This record gives sequence, structure tokens and C-alpha cells, in this order.
Amino acid sequence: MNRKVSKAIFPVAGLGTRFLPATKSVPKEIMTLVDRPLIQYAIDEARAAGIEDFIFVTSRGKSALEDYFDLAPDLEAALERSGKTELLEILRNTNMDSGTIAYLRQHKALGLGHAVSCARKLIGDEPFAVILPDDVIAAEKSCLQQMVEAYQETGGAMVATMEVSSAQTSSYGVLDVATENGRIVSAKGMVEKPAQGTAPSNLAVIGRYILTPQVLSNFDTIGRGAGGEIQLTDAIAAEIDAGRDVFGYRFDGQRYDCGSKAGFLQATVAFALARDELRDEFAAFLNEMHATKQAAQ
Ligand code: UTP
Repeated sequence: MNRKVSKAIFPVAGLGTRFLPATKSVPKEIMTLVDRPLIQYAIDEARAAGIEDFIFVTSRGKSALEDYFDLAPDLEAALERSGKTELLEILRNTNMDSGTIAYLRQHKALGLGHAVSCARKLIGDEPFAVILPDDVIAAEKSCLQQMVEAYQETGGAMVATMEVSSAQTSSYGVLDVATENGRIVSAKGMVEKPAQGTAPSNLAVIGRYILTPQVLSNFDTIGRGAGGEIQLTDAIAAEIDAGRDVFGYRFDGQRYDCGSKAGFLQATVAFALARDELRDEFAAFLNEMHATKQAAQ
């Protein structure tokens, strides 16, 4: 099969309950790290990996997300008139060409697997990426780009993986490892949210995938899985059961779980400290906070 990966699915139809009440009216993916919404980080990562077609699986109440990618001619004209060229550049970098984004609806939040399967007709017969925007990954070379390069060698299905503590495995899809070769892990099984103490390894699957259309066909036969949801992990695990290759890729980079409050706050601090214009003032503030807390103890 052709190994060029030019389409990516962004499942953004979840309810985002962990950020209520904010997500009552603001989609989680529009929430900002410093000054950029989560979705912008995901789009930039996909572009860096050579993605040309962007498929968003959305739901009720996500119109702010669709608006975000529209052109803003009035704003651009105002910035141009006032000579704010740097801001103009930042704004223009968010523009997406007409015809490159498709939005489709998941009518009911039946799970991540179901959301991905909604895009089946748009995928056709080629490999595709899946990016969960609430996993933000700071990396020198974008995580998806690293995976696309590895995928050129391996084919099969590929998931991003990282070590987590034994206490955390029950929150993730977890790989059962057959063999390891550098960053590439060959999987002989995969289980979603294993009960405490039953995980086959500490290698958790996080929100980047390169999949084949065959994985989408597997949704015809799998039912609801962990938590009563239709799970992407189960459709990928079905590949292993059918004797086809599934690989984990130990990416190089720092992943932040921006679907959780603690992860979102950690990412905010890390991305703020990475910005030249903020670093000194923000680091001084953090040091002061730390010192005040220690003094109080
Ligand atoms: P999460 O498990 O983080 O769920 O979904 P959530 O609804 O976004 O957030 P919480 O747990 O209620 O706070 C992981 C990814 O899968 C998408 C989400 O939008 C997110 O990108 N998803 C999940 C769907 O698109 N549809 C679903 O039915 C479930």
C-alpha cells in the first residue's frame, strides 16, 4: 500500500466535561496555551508532517472551532493599516486554504473510535493520521513527522507511545510488547484502560496515530468496549488479531495532557517559559510564588 500520509482526522466531538463550566460554551480545543488555541498546535504539527487534508469530527456547540479557521479580512486590514506586521504574520499563519478542511458531525459522543469511524468515507483507500488536540507535544521535530518517517519504513498501523507509571496505566490504552527495535515497538496486543495491576506493560498509547483504512473496516465487527464506548484501541487491536502489524513509536518530545486541568496548567507554564518575551518576568513570578509558599511553611 501507498505509504504517503496526507490526510489527518481531528476528533473534537467529546463533551470536555473535565473543563466544565468553561466547556459549556467554549470548545476545549479553543482553550489557549499562552495565546494560541490547542487546535493551532495540532494543525501546526500536522502541517510539519506533510498533512494536506484536515478532517474535523465535531459536534453540537463547536462552531467557534469552525469560525477559528475562517479568514478575518477586517482584522487583517486593520493590522495592515496600523503597520502591525508581526501580528499580521501570526494571523495569516492561521489561515487554511479553501477546500483543505472538512467538518463532519458525530451526532452522539459514542467514543473516540466512533468519532474516527465517522470519517470513513472521506479517507478512502490510503493511510491517514489521527491527532487528538488535547495531547500537546513539545518536540524539536514534530511528533507526527517522526512517526510519518518511521512509518515509511514499517507500514502497518502505528501509535505514539510513552512510559507511564503503573498507577497511571488504567487511564490509557496499553501495549503488549512483542519486540523492541530502538524507538519502534512491535505490539502483540493492546488493551484499553486495563484494570489496576493487569496492564501488560507500562507503554501507554497517546493521541497520535497512523492507521490504514483496514482499521476503519474493523469497526464493522467490534462492539462497545471500555466505559461502554466504541474504542479506537479495540479497532487497532483487531489488526493484531488478524495477523497484521501494529507498532508503537516512542516519540522524542514532552507530552502534556491538556485534557486534564493539571496537564493544561503544566503546559501553560512550560510554553510560557519557552517564550522569549515572557520568560524573565514569568520565571521571576514563579520563583517568588515558590519562595512565598516555602516561607509560609
Ligand atoms: P476524552 O476522553 O478526553 O473525552 O476524548 P472528552 O469528552 O474530550 O473530555 P472529558 O473526558 O469529558 O473531559 C479524547 C478525544 O476524543 C474525542 C475528544 O474530542 C478528544 O479529542 N472524542 C471523544 C470524540 O470526538 N468523540 C467521542 O465520542 C469521545
